[in-house]
Amino acid sequence: MAKQDDQFKRVVSHAKEYGFVVQSSEIYDGLSAVYDYTQNGTELKKNIRDYWWKSMVQLHENIVGIDSAIFMHPTTWKASGHIDAFNDPLIDNKDSKKRYRADVLIEDYAEKLFQKAQKEITKAAKRFGDTFDEEQYKTTNPRVIKYLTERKKVLQDMAMLLDKDDLAGVKALIEEKGIACPVSGSKNWTDVKQFNLMFGTKIGASADSAMDLYLRPETAQGIFVNFLNVQKSGRMKIPFGIAQTGKAFRNEIVARQFIFRMREFEQMEMQFFVRPGEQKKWYETWKERRLAWHLSLGLGKENYRFHKHEKLAHYADAAADIEFNFPFGFKELEGIHSRTNFDLSSHEEHSGRKLQYFDPELNESYVPYVVETSIGLDRMFLAVLSKSLQEETLENGTIRTVLRLPAVLAPIKAAILPLVKKDGLPDIAHKIIDDLKFDFNVTYDEKDAVGRRYRRQDAAGTPFCITVDHQTKDDNTVTLRNRDSMEQKRVGIKDLKNLINTEVSFANWLKKLE
Ligand code: GAP
Repeated sequence: MAKQDDQFKRVVSHAKEYGFVVQSSEIYDGLSAVYDYTQNGTELKKNIRDYWWKSMVQLHENIVGIDSAIFMHPTTWKASGHIDAFNDPLIDNKDSKKRYRADVLIEDYAEKLFQKAQKEITKAAKRFGDTFDEEQYKTTNPRVIKYLTERKKVLQDMAMLLDKDDLAGVKALIEEKGIACPVSGSKNWTDVKQFNLMFGTKIGASADSAMDLYLRPETAQGIFVNFLNVQKSGRMKIPFGIAQTGKAFRNEIVARQFIFRMREFEQMEMQFFVRPGEQKKWYETWKERRLAWHLSLGLGKENYRFHKHEKLAHYADAAADIEFNFPFGFKELEGIHSRTNFDLSSHEEHSGRKLQYFDPELNESYVPYVVETSIGLDRMFLAVLSKSLQEETLENGTIRTVLRLPAVLAPIKAAILPLVKKDGLPDIAHKIIDDLKFDFNVTYDEKDAVGRRYRRQDAAGTPFCITVDHQTKDDNTVTLRNRDSMEQKRVGIKDLKNLINTEVSFANWLKKLE
């Protein structure tokens, strides 16, 4: 645990020091759970967004993208169920005065049981070596069975209680399990209450005519209300999808863990409209496709797992999260939801407009069913940043900090470094920049010894360093240094574009998905 905390602290301070993320309004002591992306962070975020957009929109003939407004007619949120049901159960600890989500306290308790079981399994795997059969061990070892059964039961009990809106029961479950406040260690809890997460605001200049509005808590509703506009203008045939990226806002009760849970964040969502009855098949397909997208970035298969929802949202008939192994454990990164025809039907009812599709093959009209994929861009950013940040001990005993970002996502693709600030080397370096800048985001650095400059670029995640030296003047070659292997090779200036492109191009990375 201490190791995980250390890595998390390293990620947060690295993000600030190397121009990725800082607290919003920092000079005024910051705003809780709101963050600003600085120069490298903005590029990394844009590249993650592009990687998602291209994989969804560009690679699928039947998916198109939109950009709907953050402000929406207030009835949208009545129809979607957010006004009545977008609540979190909150609980306060009377001694520490800290506020928690009751469900998160219980989920953390369940995760601890899972970790205990994992510890037993890891120990046994070491003891038995190659002959170890994990599946058999899980079903026969009494301690592992006890931990996993208790975990399952507590999650099921919580789902059942929340389903019935039995908040007294949720409190009783917290007390029965002896769950203590992580800050004070006290078990002195208030009752559990529901809390609506939407931010309200007003539109209009005068008090009489002002209309109550909400900042959208998800981008999905902008897609639903435009379903027919897109279907008709694009002559889309079912099955088809509409994708969108954009800001969403939630007044989160517990907003800790850096950019994991924010009050203003960005989502990348896709609603896939299908024939009624075909939703389960598409739900499985999208679970597979989304996991493949994550794996294509090479952060390690072992860092992902599916978590099937026991408690379904009011609109869903199936749902699962792709969880990622963040520095603070496995947590939700993306949701895949089979949303039935709830949203479109409800918008039909509240707007009085038909939101149906005429299926020429079936010769009938129906309200399509929807399978949604929904990922938080900031959460994805944290996943990428935290797994990429590594420290390694070199042969000479020194420690190198290296940000092994997938090259396609790196903010800067190459740094051009003249070995010295004289003898015409800076001019050659600038000429190389002028040639490469049309294809890649590149940077120039002449300050300090070249070794220190390499380290700076390693820490910023730059995949290549190009060094211009005196030999360059004779034969138009430079050294090309690879961030991960630190290998340096002599290459012709004319070959740089191709060599870099092979490693960083979206096309080469996206082809892994085909
Ligand atoms: N349209 C469905 C929807 O919004 P969700 O599970 O509430 O579903 C989807 O959110 C994703 O949005 C989550 O998996 C997470 O990555 C991201 N997300 C949700 N709340 C967030 C928050 N407060 N801060 C950062 N990301 C958040």
